[in-house]
Amino acid sequence: MIIHGDCIEELKKLESNSVDTIITDPPYNYECIGRQWDNKEINRRLERIKNSKTLVKNIPYGSGLAGGVRNKRWYERNYRNIIEYTQWCKEWGQQLFKICKSGAPVAVFNSTRTVAHVQVALEDAGFYMRDILVYRRHSGIPKGLNLKRKLEKMNHPDAEKWEGWHTCFRNEWEAILLVQKPLVKNYWETLQRTGVGVFKTINEDGSFQSNILEGYYNKSEKKFAHCTVKPLELIKKLILTLIPKSSDNIVLDPFAGSGTTLVASKQLGYHYTGIEIESEYIDIIDERLNSVYLPSLTK
Ligand SMILES: C[S@@+](CC[C@H](N)C(=O)[O-])C[C@H]1O[C@@H](n2cnc3c(N)ncnc32)[C@H](O)[C@@H]1O
Repeated sequence: MIIHGDCIEELKKLESNSVDTIITDPPYNYECIGRQWDNKEINRRLERIKNSKTLVKNIPYGSGLAGGVRNKRWYERNYRNIIEYTQWCKEWGQQLFKICKSGAPVAVFNSTRTVAHVQVALEDAGFYMRDILVYRRHSGIPKGLNLKRKLEKMNHPDAEKWEGWHTCFRNEWEAILLVQKPLVKNYWETLQRTGVGVFKTINEDGSFQSNILEGYYNKSEKKFAHCTVKPLELIKKLILTLIPKSSDNIVLDPFAGSGTTLVASKQLGYHYTGIEIESEYIDIIDERLNSVYLPSLTK
């Protein structure tokens, strides 16, 4: 099922205790500096800089690129922004909590800068913290200031002295926050009642899965006119790890984007529900899903 709308409103209409797992990739608070996390701000900024050579198009306060003098007001604004983002995460987190079955795992992609806030928001919504998985991308442009270059532009005599000094690290990983709706008594009792709660951690080669997921980043994977498409194989790995296959298990993605979670679910034979606020992405989701052959479901 694909739903077009704001997930906070749409989730209210879904049945309580009906969803087995959630794998989602909400806006990271990079794109939106205003109060709306609904893509309008992203579009406005992209429009503004579409002909420029700017490499990093969506930037948060505090990244070092958002500009502005670092005065008290700047830091207060940055702080208010993250508090608002946290509050927004709690709002959708509360709706997710209502619709999840006991023991349901919830995996939420986020940036290394903001994942702690998302964790607190989801704990406030009632979830129990399990882990932070590392999605290692082997990529990342240093998004910050190269001090030597900056000083060179200013014709500063100390430029050479600051060779190799920068304002941030090369960002090589993204966080996947893993929280869980509380169990009924214990794992086994929960599993018998709801069918979820434990993770498949032994890989096909016999190795025990660590909390670092790597080797899934594929530079040439199609982007489907969406700026933050996740690797399909990574999402498949998460589904197979987090949810035992059954004919009635449902995977939900309330921030579906181009529909990677839904496509992965369909390819693996799981039921899925996706919510997306932008109609143009709904078209992409439909197109991607229509090209997937549906395997038969097995108990
Ligand atoms: C980071 S992207 C997800 C990308 C996805 N993982 C993929 O592989 O295509 C987040 C998506 O959430 C959508 N979104 C933002 N706010 C939303 C809301 N309140 N309700 C539903 N969708 C929302 C955005 O339009 C965007 O497509």
